[in-house]
Amino acid sequence: MAATRNFNLDDTFYQNAESFFMANQKVGLTYDDITLATLYSEILPRDTQLDTQLADTLQLNIPVVSADMDTVTESRMAIAMALNGGLGLIHYNMPEKQQLSEVSRVKYHVQGLIQDPIKVSPDDLIGDVLERIEERKFGFSTFPVVSKENKLLGLLSGHVVKPRYASKKVAEALTPRDQVHSIRKKELGKDPIARADKFFTEHLGIHKLLVVDDNDHLLGLITMSDVERITQERKAQFKPARDAQFRLVCGAAVSATRNAFGELDRERILDHVGALLERGVDCVAVSTAHGHSKGVGDTVKVLRDAFPKLPIIAGNVTSGSGVEYLADCGANIIKIGQGPGSICTTRIVAGVGIPQMTALYICSRMAAKKKVSILADGGITKSGDIVKALTLAQGVICGGMLAGSAESPGDMVEIAGKMYKQYRGMGSLAAMKAGSAARYGHEKSDTTRKVAAEGIEALKESCGPVDRVLATLIGGIQSGMGYLGAKNLSELREKARYIRVSPAGQREAAPHDVVELKTGH
Ligand code: XMP
Repeated sequence: MAATRNFNLDDTFYQNAESFFMANQKVGLTYDDITLATLYSEILPRDTQLDTQLADTLQLNIPVVSADMDTVTESRMAIAMALNGGLGLIHYNMPEKQQLSEVSRVKYHVQGLIQDPIKVSPDDLIGDVLERIEERKFGFSTFPVVSKENKLLGLLSGHVVKPRYASKKVAEALTPRDQVHSIRKKELGKDPIARADKFFTEHLGIHKLLVVDDNDHLLGLITMSDVERITQERKAQFKPARDAQFRLVCGAAVSATRNAFGELDRERILDHVGALLERGVDCVAVSTAHGHSKGVGDTVKVLRDAFPKLPIIAGNVTSGSGVEYLADCGANIIKIGQGPGSICTTRIVAGVGIPQMTALYICSRMAAKKKVSILADGGITKSGDIVKALTLAQGVICGGMLAGSAESPGDMVEIAGKMYKQYRGMGSLAAMKAGSAARYGHEKSDTTRKVAAEGIEALKESCGPVDRVLATLIGGIQSGMGYLGAKNLSELREKARYIRVSPAGQREAAPHDVVELKTGH
């Protein structure tokens, strides 16, 4: 009897999504406004599954997507995201040709293959090579030797890269081509790491395998230490996100481009997406600040008609009618978020936008009806926010959380002994000048006259490789699922129960009344 009464009391206070959000209709709530109630659990965090089906042909092994922003996702980030089981959306603030090659780099990435190894020429002196090693702080001293046409001529072994040979030419010191081990790229097959692993076992003492094309041009290099590291990582719980041909998945942003008459430039949009598909892109994102608009809807329709099976991400919206509109136009995945981003000023500048949890609830109900997925886009600052977002959405998009990592584009800057990376809103003046103005409903040339920027330029503290950032985020998501007794993301969505948090409760949630020595990250 007592147990039943307690259970009912739990239910009165900790409400499921329907009851909770309906009871809080008059206020816009975001991540820190709510907390999730724990439930009886037999699930250990490490046993939880994080795979998510975003569209029929797009499944990820972790529900995290890197934002299509010019200070977040180019090929390096997209490769790292896919290797960790997620997805990167290559931004479109660059010439189309460059975006295509960024996509190619991801799709043709062979894990463990160093695609652009440091090479030397037969005419170099050993002294030049030693200088380069010193200048650029290389931690290795064996280099492939190639001709001007990139044909493999041999290998300069570390044994001869010594000051005593400084005046000798590389041509005199190299191990000649016929004595150098190599493999043609197509012989690497579907599992290049397993192939290379076998090679190193069979060739005692050889630590480097050169990869060439049919005409003996150097395509890359595989090292034994990389193969050993990757083999170790393969035992990790979350596998890389791959397409049906075992290539890493990759998405790309496209824009609702207009022609000189202000009409949608259908031809250009179709050419662009056609070319992306030729490179093997897995999904495209029509990313704008206002997705519930004719230009975005028409772009999605044009793409849906031309490419019936292509997973299309579109946005951003924060209303049920916005989700319905984009779903009816043909989008499979809808981005939810207007103004929550760490570099966004849309709410301040335009006075619009809805706090994320309320927006996600409203949109999730329409998404379920329309059988589309939603992504919580912007405002994620900690793993707990992701757990909360995943109670309503099929995945999250992160910008700021990833912008400080080694794989984001841009140089590091040092300020007062600390390292930072640039991070800017795609609606900042600088980004719009570089090409993203259409995303905010302006012409690129508009940025020379007065337009209202909707984003800022900022810095993020450098935070090391993205693997490390994702490991922390994933650990947090798995903890949250363990507390709710949810073994997978659909159980998380079913089981979540919410309660609002008072300002004192928010203070209580963060470390307090101590002198913090080390952050938990
Ligand atoms: P976070 O919080 O992860 O947000 O840094 C990334 C998301 O913010 C959006 N975005 C912008 N929104 N003005 C805005 O109002 C901007 O300049 C801007 N740039 C990016 C975008 O949805 C991204 O994924």
